[in-house]
Amino acid sequence: MSLLEVKDLQVHYPIRGGFFNTVVDYVYAVDGVNMNIEQGKSYGLIGESGSGKTTIGKVIVGLEKATGGEVLYKGQNVLDPKVRKKIKYNEDVQMIFQDSMSSLDPRKRVLDIIAEPIRNFEHLNKEAEFKRVQELLDIVGLPKDSIYKYPFEFSGGQRQRIGVARAVACRPKLIVCDEPTSALDLSVQAQVLNYLKIIQNYLFISHDLGVVRHMCDYIYIMHRGRFTECGTRDDIYLNPQHIYTKRLIASIPQVDPKKKAENRHNRELIEQIYQDQYTEYYDMGGKVYPLQALSDSHFVASKKGV
Ligand SMILES: Nc1ncnc2c1ncn2[C@@H]1O[C@H](COP(=O)(O)OP(=O)(O)OP(=O)(O)O)[C@@H](O)[C@H]1O
Ligand SMILES: [Mg+2]
Repeated sequence: MSLLEVKDLQVHYPIRGGFFNTVVDYVYAVDGVNMNIEQGKSYGLIGESGSGKTTIGKVIVGLEKATGGEVLYKGQNVLDPKVRKKIKYNEDVQMIFQDSMSSLDPRKRVLDIIAEPIRNFEHLNKEAEFKRVQELLDIVGLPKDSIYKYPFEFSGGQRQRIGVARAVACRPKLIVCDEPTSALDLSVQAQVLNYLKIIQNYLFISHDLGVVRHMCDYIYIMHRGRFTECGTRDDIYLNPQHIYTKRLIASIPQVDPKKKAENRHNRELIEQIYQDQYTEYYDMGGKVYPLQALSDSHFVASKKGV
């Protein structure tokens, strides 16, 4: 059975304007997406800036309201706050936020920030709690004396590590990680990613296709509020079908100097195809068409008229 199912999720933000500040249009931030998250597997959500990734994450953890659709956790609709409370959903599902400054309470010390979920859900004694927080700081590579400091005393990358430590403090069943390591230096990034891999069940939101390949079994590609393609790691990286996916994959930087020229040529070729065939892949509103199954695991947005 699925751990979490997202069904036909829509989030439309009203745009107000005019003299009476009435709703003149909507931003279709998320426009009918379906996801299926199973126990023990890791998932990636990729797409360019503004495609709606964070919005999906926030709806999943209950921080943003959906305009339509359902989010089912073990079969129960957690868009309803009463259901969330009843099944202790907030304990099971945590989020690491993209924006580390606004997600940490500036008036609290690191000890209180990280211990907050432990106090809410586990009720350890003071000594055990202190020890747990120290272990968590160690995992994310922060010095022990950080414990009595405030968020403003840290750099952006260090604050993100505090957010990671808080999210994993109670070993949640699922973590929505929104660009969790984009502000971290490579050594700490590897350390945090390896730790996440132990926890295993996560939805990893990122721009970085290289990291997602390393981290995720199943990947959703998103563009302008819809999924353009989803599939296993091999479906996406070895057999991409949608022009948008191909374009994203071609943009992964090549480390090998011998392959650099070849890669650049390939990127230019795909960019040309993207420009030439754009109207086959996107409707008049710039949205992709509905997904079609290519196999049990691989789905791709269809082309115009197909
Ligand atoms: N509170 C809001 N009110 C109005 N529009 C919003 C709001 N939050 C997000 N949006 C819009 O919804 C769209 C999706 O935003 P979202 O933050 O989900 O994108 P994202 O894929 O996470 O981008 P990034 O990679 O830059 O983090 C954007 O066009 C954004 O401007
Ligand atoms: Mg985002």
